[in-house]
Amino acid sequence: MMKNMIPDRERKQKLEARLTGCEFGSKVLAFVTVDSTNLVLKRELERLPHGTLAIAEEQTFGRGRRGRSWQSPAGTGVWMSLLIKNLPKTDKAPMITIVAALAVARALREISDADCLIKWPNDIVLGGRKICGILTEMCTTENGQMGIIVGIGINISQCEFPAELAQTATSLKIETGCEFDRLEIVGRIMCHFEDLYRQFLQGGDLQNLQEEYNQLLVNAGKEIQIISEHDPFRGIGIGIDAQGRLLVESGGTVKAVLSGEVSVRGIYGYC
Ligand code: BTN
Repeated sequence: MMKNMIPDRERKQKLEARLTGCEFGSKVLAFVTVDSTNLVLKRELERLPHGTLAIAEEQTFGRGRRGRSWQSPAGTGVWMSLLIKNLPKTDKAPMITIVAALAVARALREISDADCLIKWPNDIVLGGRKICGILTEMCTTENGQMGIIVGIGINISQCEFPAELAQTATSLKIETGCEFDRLEIVGRIMCHFEDLYRQFLQGGDLQNLQEEYNQLLVNAGKEIQIISEHDPFRGIGIGIDAQGRLLVESGGTVKAVLSGEVSVRGIYGYC
């Protein structure tokens, strides 16, 4: 075990008890402190089974999308990653991120009663600020084994954020004034994720989840800006299609956006 990985036996036991019989969380790796839960799974990809959940109280090298860092102070959030090894086709990997976002939104809405919404493809926003980010990585080992690592970071009990994040980030505590049991949140997310992932595998795409996802989509009906090197444009967000692409009405036509950064007017300071 690496020097900066301190196991957390108590939380491991509690989570295992909560997730008994589940496919997601069938094996739990819990740490007091770790560099990044995504990196833990990546390093052990070969030997770890499908459904392994890695979770930490603190990450010293939390990673975000587009090479950004992810602040993960001790005891303030949910910092966890799930290993998926049974995806039949690798080209469907980006859709898992949509499934994960819906699972997190469902769980947070259920536990807090707060109006948590999804910003395409997989940020969760509350009160116009980001409360959760998801980093999905596809990895292959030297002998060709493939795994999808879904890293989920949720801000739960922070009372404030450093100046550079104060305009864009928030926590469940700041928005609701309440304290939440983080392991209960993890349990609920795993439950919903497993259920939604099954529906996704059955349908072969996102057709079974599209309607619920679109109801929670903060981009829908809003003016949005697609930030892309090759084809930047503005339009009105409609919703996702069964492939998880964002449909945007622009200049009388509907364009399907596969990837790229999307700004929504009124969210994260875009006005
Ligand atoms: C984003 O930039 O929005 C994605 C942030 C993802 C953060 C989570 S925290 C658990 C997992 N481990 C990491 O290093 N990153 C993800």
